[in-house]
Amino acid sequence: MDKAVVDRIAQFEGQEVLLQGWLAAKRSSGKIHFLQVRDGTGTIQCVLVKANAVEDEFAAADRCPQESSVEVVGVVRKDARSPIGFEVDASRFRVVSAAEPYPISPKDHGTAFLMEHRHLWLRSRRQHAILRVRATIIRAIRDYFDNNGFLLVDTPILTPAACEGTTTLFELDYFGEKAYLTQSGQLYNEATAAAFGKVYCFGPTFRAEKSKTRRHLMEFWMVEPEMAFADLVENMRVAEEFLAYVVGRVLDERRTELAVLERDIKPLEGVQAPFPRIHYRDAVAQLRTHGSDIPDGDDFGGDDETILTKLYDRPIIVHHYPTAVKAFYMKRDPDDPTHCLSMDVLAPEGYGEVIGGGQREESLEVLRAAIAAHKLPEEAFGWYLDLRRFGSVPHAGFGLGVERTVAWICGLPHIRETIPFPRMLEKITP
Ligand code: 4AD
Ligand code: MG
Repeated sequence: MDKAVVDRIAQFEGQEVLLQGWLAAKRSSGKIHFLQVRDGTGTIQCVLVKANAVEDEFAAADRCPQESSVEVVGVVRKDARSPIGFEVDASRFRVVSAAEPYPISPKDHGTAFLMEHRHLWLRSRRQHAILRVRATIIRAIRDYFDNNGFLLVDTPILTPAACEGTTTLFELDYFGEKAYLTQSGQLYNEATAAAFGKVYCFGPTFRAEKSKTRRHLMEFWMVEPEMAFADLVENMRVAEEFLAYVVGRVLDERRTELAVLERDIKPLEGVQAPFPRIHYRDAVAQLRTHGSDIPDGDDFGGDDETILTKLYDRPIIVHHYPTAVKAFYMKRDPDDPTHCLSMDVLAPEGYGEVIGGGQREESLEVLRAAIAAHKLPEEAFGWYLDLRRFGSVPHAGFGLGVERTVAWICGLPHIRETIPFPRMLEKITP
């Protein structure tokens, strides 16, 4: 007998199969049990009729608590009333392990309760949908770079120095020396780009963000491409082509999941290149006419990004942020060094920054001065400065945060549901 899985149930029509899963819910009429069996790929109704069942198996199904692990044998039948188009006429039923009373019920639970039970909450339909979209986004990211001449070259997670400022570092002891969890693979990417041309790294990154927001995690996944012989303009072109591709793949492959999430897909269908490109100064002017009191020269807060992105029907690229609010490695605009060749891609519908990047400083002297001005220890950056000594070239890249992208594409109000086990402020369990 074949083992069937719910998301490929159509190919088993008319056959007797074995299903293995968990009892998500059940309803009973006394003579018939309607068992909702969830196998990880989907949920299917299995109909167990008393007259056709083994007596003690029918009784076991009657007693079986929600979320017990079970095995069902039955024939797959087409059924127009089923949301998936099929049901199973069950003949055998076995409890693998009976569950204790399940803490998550269909009633509305508070978020704190659900987060404490994240290990069980993952079994819900909504969480399934989100994490399947996440998996597709990750596959699309890899496909885009693999198919466009970028080499995957992963960067270390244990690092001796800061990349994105010293205030969000997770410090640890490395055999008596200070080390940090990586904030970004970028600096190493710059070395591998000089070795391989176009590269990307893709892995977990860490920031000890001391504020609670709906956009920040302490641990998040970032994909970072880096290109030798590329400037800010080329960087923007790649970023928009890449992002439009990723959204397109989700629309092609995950319609069902987006429907479960009740995501309005119209705004996603509008994610087409080119994206509007807005100089930081023009963005500030627009913000002020729409109620923000942002002072000139400030970085955008979440609220500013929300206001700005609601003015457009697709992602926007804000470029030339003030040098003072960006990282040490940003190349200054040669015509106006108070602004730098940076860019952020802000997602529409109020979501805000999903990509940050820019053109890197390629001059040894300017970079050295920037490291000093940011009060970073030059010893830790000796190897990085070497890249400017041995064949320095204009180069650029960016980082896309996977979780913010998932939140946006799925239309979620908060980032906590975009990763199986989110790491948030002062919260590391489960
Ligand atoms: O803008 P960020 O800090 O840029 C960098 O780290 C660059 N070194 C990347 C590069 O050029 N190679 O972070 C990039 C992206 C953000 O746009 C955002 O999507 C995500 O990483 N991100 C976070 N996501 C969730 N939680 C946080 N605490 C995040 N911090 C950044
Ligand atoms: Mg940023």
